[in-house]
This record gives sequence, structure tokens and C-alpha cells, in this order.
Amino acid sequence: MTTNAALRDLAIDIATEAGELAQRRRSEGVAITATKTALADIVTEADREVEDLIRTRLAAERPDDGFLGEESGAAGGASGFTWVIDPIDGTVNYAYGIPAFAVSIAVVEGTPDPAQWRARVGVVHNPMTREMFHAVVGEGAYLGSRRLTVNTTVDAAGALVGTGFGYEAQRRVEQFEVLSRVLPIVRDIRRLGAASLDLASVAAGRLDAYYERGLWPWDHAAGALLVTEAGGRCGGIDGAAAGRDLLIAAAPELYAQLEAILSR
Ligand code: IPD
Ligand code: CA
Repeated sequence: MTTNAALRDLAIDIATEAGELAQRRRSEGVAITATKTALADIVTEADREVEDLIRTRLAAERPDDGFLGEESGAAGGASGFTWVIDPIDGTVNYAYGIPAFAVSIAVVEGTPDPAQWRARVGVVHNPMTREMFHAVVGEGAYLGSRRLTVNTTVDAAGALVGTGFGYEAQRRVEQFEVLSRVLPIVRDIRRLGAASLDLASVAAGRLDAYYERGLWPWDHAAGALLVTEAGGRCGGIDGAAAGRDLLIAAAPELYAQLEAILSR
């Protein structure tokens, strides 16, 4: 039988090794090797190399598990578990040397679709700050050994809200329109540039809330569990699961306020 604690310990171990590789390649200098959906949507050799490292370790240590990674796609497994990986979340920060990027590793059970899976473990590691955020379902969220709780006493007017923008021009036009409704009624906005760190920040109380449209499963698989295990809510509109349409993360009361604004 696989315990959640064993999955978490393995995820932390792999994230540590992956983070060291990302940091080493960063210190050697980073070249943008390709653009993906748009000129802003870049990939570096390190994104691919770090995902290869993670995939190789999992193939050796968890050969029956499925895999879903940003750079190398999906592979089914027989165990019912899938590892959902963003090798470097915040690639633009990474390419520019802004120390806000992370290795994001989640273990989910069931169909590997955010609307259906049950997250078991989430790990988000920023190698530059050496911060290791981790959560096991039902057992709380932690930064290292410190237990995390979302901020619960804030309403929209006093909220520091993270958000992000996708890479496609049309989506950015829509996101700008949404932002124009949110910005006047909250304390302020932050755009950290890595969805996994936005979610970890909500879990840690460094942001009161975070929302974004257009996220991919690997952007939020691990971070969403951090938020819910820190007492927050993470989802979409009208009871939908978080997905490409929308992700909102906050304490439940603030979530409801943001949902009302964002669903207009
Ligand atoms: C991106 C980052 C960014 C978010 C984008 C994501 P990537 O992931 O998380 O903050 O706004 O929607 O695609 O491309 O750096 O792994
Ligand atoms: Ca990425």
C-alpha cells in the first residue's frame, strides 16, 4: 500500500533535486529555445531537462503511476495515481533571472482531469528562496515545518489579490477587462508570474486571494491542495472545479465575494 506520507516524501525529494538542476542551469545562463503558443510563451532547455529528470526518477521509482507534464505530455499508468508536473512554473521569471519560479509536483488519484481527480499530495518548491511548500490531503499545508492557514478576516476591499495573464493576445484582452473591474475594489493586485507560487502565497497568507483564467492542470494541481489544506477554497464559478475557465483561491467568505465579481 502506498501511504500519502511516502508520496509526499518522494515528491519533496524529487522537487529538491529538480530545483537544484534548475538553479544550476540558471546560474550558467538561460537561453530561450522555443516559443510555444505565442511569442510570450517561451520554453528553455532547462524546462525540458528538469522535466526529463523528474520523469526519469518517477519511471524508476513509481513505474506503475501515470504522468502528466507541461513539456512532455501524458502517459497512463495502472496504479490509479498520476503525477502532475510543472518542471519550471514561472518560466518567464526564470528566463529573466527573477527569483520567483517553482517546481510544482502533485500526485492525484482517478481520471487525470482537474474536474475529476482527487489530489493526494502537492509540493511547490522555489529553489531560489529554498522554500518547500507541501500538503497531504486531510493533513494540512506546510512551509517546511510551519503549518499554514489562509487569511480569514479580510473582505474584498482590504484584499491583496494575485492574478496572472495567459499568453494569447485575445485572452489578455479579456483578462484586462476583468482586471478593470477587480482593481478598483480591492486593496491592490500582484502579478507574481508563477501560478503555483500565487497559490502557495494564498495558503501562506502572503496574498488574500488569487484568480486566473486559462490555467493548465500542471499550473494549479499542487498549489490548489496547498490552499484547501490551509483552510481556503479553490474552485471555479457556481461550484465548478478549478479549470481553464477560471480558478479562484481564497478563504471561503472572500471567495464568495470574488466569485460574484468575476461571474459578472
Ligand atoms: C505560467 C505562469 C503564469 C501564469 C500563466 C502560466 P509557465 O506558467 O504560472 O504566472 O499567469 O498562466 O501559464 O508557463 O511559466 O509554466
Ligand atoms: Ca512551466
